[in-house]
Amino acid sequence: MSQSPLFSPVNLGSKKIKNRFVRSATHDFMAEEDGSISSRQLELYRNLAQGGIGLIITGHAYVLPSGKASPRQIAIHHDRFIPGLRKLTSVVHENEAKIFLQLSHAGRQTKEKICGCQPLAPSPVYEPVYQVMPREMSQGEIEEVIQAFVAAARRAKEADFDGVQLHCAHGYLLSSFLSPYTNRRQDQWGGSLENRTRIILEILRGIRKKVGEDFPVIAKLNSSDYLPQGFEIEEAIKVAQMLEQEGLAAIEVSGGSAESGKGSMWPGLRPEEEQGYFVPAASLIKKKVKIPIIGLGGLRSFRIMEKIIVEGQVDMVSMSRPFIREPDLIARFERGEASTSKCISCNKCFNPRGIICAEAKKEENNL
Ligand SMILES: Cc1cc2nc3c(=O)[nH]c(=O)nc-3n(C[C@H](O)[C@H](O)[C@H](O)COP(=O)(O)O)c2cc1C
Ligand code: SF4
Repeated sequence: MSQSPLFSPVNLGSKKIKNRFVRSATHDFMAEEDGSISSRQLELYRNLAQGGIGLIITGHAYVLPSGKASPRQIAIHHDRFIPGLRKLTSVVHENEAKIFLQLSHAGRQTKEKICGCQPLAPSPVYEPVYQVMPREMSQGEIEEVIQAFVAAARRAKEADFDGVQLHCAHGYLLSSFLSPYTNRRQDQWGGSLENRTRIILEILRGIRKKVGEDFPVIAKLNSSDYLPQGFEIEEAIKVAQMLEQEGLAAIEVSGGSAESGKGSMWPGLRPEEEQGYFVPAASLIKKKVKIPIIGLGGLRSFRIMEKIIVEGQVDMVSMSRPFIREPDLIARFERGEASTSKCISCNKCFNPRGIICAEAKKEENNL
C-alpha cells in the first residue's frame, strides 16, 4: 500500500509532513503529578513515531493552572516544563515523525478540585456534566488567557515542537467562546461571530508576533457543539476563513461538547461507508479555504481513508483510538499487513492510571 496517495507528503505551513496520517490529540493520563513529561510518555511517543505516523499531536496541554482539565495532564504554563518537553520532541524526531503540541484551556469543563479555582467561562452558564457554575471572565482574565496561549507557543518552539494546535473544539474554553450557547457576552468578546472569534484571532496574532511566521499554528475546530442555538457548521466555515486570513496553517475538523451528550468519540464500530463522521463537515470547510483540512471521526479502514483523500474531501486523515490499540498501524498499512484498524470504538481505553486498550489486554489474556 506504500504507493497510495496516503503516503505522499504534504506541507503544513513551513513543515513538510511525510504522509497524510495524523495522530489526533489524545490525553494519556500519564504525565507526572505536576504536569511534566514522564518516562511512560517518552515510551508511548517513541512507539507512535516508530509506527510510521507523519504528524503526532499531543494530548491537550494546559496553558494556565486555571485551565487544567484532568489529573496527569501535560502542563505548558511555565518554562520549567521545557526540558521534559524537549525530551518528548527528541524521541519523535529520532524516528522521523513531526510533533505538534495541543494548547488548551478547559474553561467550564473542569472542577475546582482540579483547576484550583471556580472554573472560568465567557458567561456564567451552568455546566451539568461537571456540575459547575463557572465564573464570567473579566477583560483582564481574557487578556491573561491570550498571553498564556502565546507564552505556551513560545515554550513549545523552544522545546523543538514542529508547531502547535489550538484546541478550539469539544466545549473547552476557546470553543465555549465560539458558541452562542455558552458565550452570552455583550462586549467585544461576545455577540457577533467576529466578536466570539476574537479571542482566537488575538491568540493567533500574538503567537505570530512572538514566534514568527515559520512556526505553524493549526486549530482543532468544532463543526457543531450539538447545543441548543449553539455553534454550527455555517459559522464554523466563517471561523475557518477568518483564521486562514490570520495565517492559520491547517484545520482539523471535529465536533461535540460534554453537555450535549454527543462528544467527539462516537461509540461503536461503523460500517466502512459511515466512517469519518466529521468528514462531511470537513469537506464543506475545505471548499471555502485553501489551507489543508484534516478529516476525522471513527476512521478505521485504509480503503475509506484513501477514498476521501483521492476524492479531495480532505487533505489528511487523523485517528486517536486506533493508535491506542495499535501504535504501529501505519507501518502495517504501508507494508500491506493490515487493511483496517482492530479498534472497535468501545471507549474502554479511558483509564486514569494511563490509557490502555482493554480489548488488546483481553486478547493477550486469552492467549
Ligand atoms: C483517550 C482519549 C483522549 C483524548 N484526548 C483528546 C485531547 O486531549 N484533545 C483533543 O482534541 N481530543 C482528544 N480526544 C479525541 C480524539 O482526538 C478524536 O478527536 C476522537 O477520539 C475521534 O477520533 P477516533 O475515532 O479516531 O478515536 C481524545 C480521545 C481519546 C480516546
Ligand atoms: S479500548 Fe481499545 S478497542 Fe476499545 S476504543 Fe479503546 S483502543 Fe479501541
